[in-house]
Amino acid sequence: MSLESALDGQIVICAGPGGVGKTTVSAAIAMEGALRGRQTCVVTIDPAKRLADALGLTALSNKPSPVPDEAFEAAGLPPAPLDAMMLDTKTTFDDLVHRYAKSEDRAQSIIDNRFYQAISGALSGTHEYMAMEKLYELYWMGNYDLIVIDTPPTRNALDFLDAPKRMTSFLEGRLLKWFLVPAVGGGRGVFRAMNLAAVAFLRVVQKVIGAEALKDTADFFANFEGMYDGFKERAQAVYELLRQDLTRFVVVVSPTDQAVEEALFLVSSMTSHHLHFGGLVVNRIHPRFSGAAGDAVGTPLGDRLAQIAEEFEQVRRREERCLKRLESEVPSRRWVRIPYMNRDVANLSSLNDVAEMIFAGSGHLARD
Ligand SMILES: Nc1ncnc2c1ncn2[C@@H]1O[C@H](COP(=O)(O)OP(=O)(O)OP(=O)(O)O)[C@@H](O)[C@H]1O
Ligand SMILES: [Mg+2]
Repeated sequence: MSLESALDGQIVICAGPGGVGKTTVSAAIAMEGALRGRQTCVVTIDPAKRLADALGLTALSNKPSPVPDEAFEAAGLPPAPLDAMMLDTKTTFDDLVHRYAKSEDRAQSIIDNRFYQAISGALSGTHEYMAMEKLYELYWMGNYDLIVIDTPPTRNALDFLDAPKRMTSFLEGRLLKWFLVPAVGGGRGVFRAMNLAAVAFLRVVQKVIGAEALKDTADFFANFEGMYDGFKERAQAVYELLRQDLTRFVVVVSPTDQAVEEALFLVSSMTSHHLHFGGLVVNRIHPRFSGAAGDAVGTPLGDRLAQIAEEFEQVRRREERCLKRLESEVPSRRWVRIPYMNRDVANLSSLNDVAEMIFAGSGHLARD
């Protein structure tokens, strides 16, 4: 059991339910690629502080920077061509605006717009879309043999697939565009180029959300006019890239009922979207508890130990059921198991331990 085939392509996308270990697994896969000599970049999303430190991600620059050789040395590993970055959703969105705005002035007035500032951080799907956007940009830069993308925690793990579509349909502003006929030459205020029904409606809206907010909203859509096509084409190209054979999806899951449901749904949706499934990582599996009470049976400590052992066993049985369910749906040669480790995975040496388990028995070089 190994995820070897996930590395056959050039892009690995780690997806899965919230909190299961996507960021950890992304970093471990990237590290493996780099240690095999491939020029690699990992795009992480909200890494835990200690992991960020371990990867040398101190500044939020939205650009890849090399993981220092000393970090590898400290973990007893040879230096490897690994770059890492933390995705900054807002800056990625701003870059897109700069790319597609008709002029620099227009780009700036969009970026300064308060409505834009609110949606570019908070709009549902923005994070997912910007991760895919960054992937596209890095791919076309052509500097990397391997790009590993972490995905944000979402209620629906598939959100990142629909994100490009949702994004463009929002920006097309079906509802708002109806109100805003393309702004013809300046005009007196927000309400100028609108039909009467819209004006009546907007007067009500204005009372509710305030005139300033409304004006920002109207300005935003007026300034965005003409950028829709660019955004739409770009989103389509991103989607195409996700479907190519060079892109492999790795699903990360932990052995709980809810996570397993979500992951199975994700795997089947990937198939129906014609995406290439690179394998499943089942993370944080409890090992068998070996703390037998022995001579202490009958003493308070011994009884407590026996009780803990029993509770532990229950957790394990529940996890066992989850694993069986996964087995019945996903061929087990496509997945790997990682135990619950007794410390956070927050340095290169424990990332290497995870990589070793993910790629055990395959091309993984014995490194210790
Ligand atoms: N096998 C493991 N054993 C012990 N701790 C682990 C293991 N895998 C991950 N962790 C720890 O669990 C925490 C969550 O992991 P991680 O951040 O990778 O999850 P995530 O899926 O990216 O979460 P989110 O959905 O919030 O982005 C981290 O502190 C990480 O160090
Ligand atoms: Mg994460």
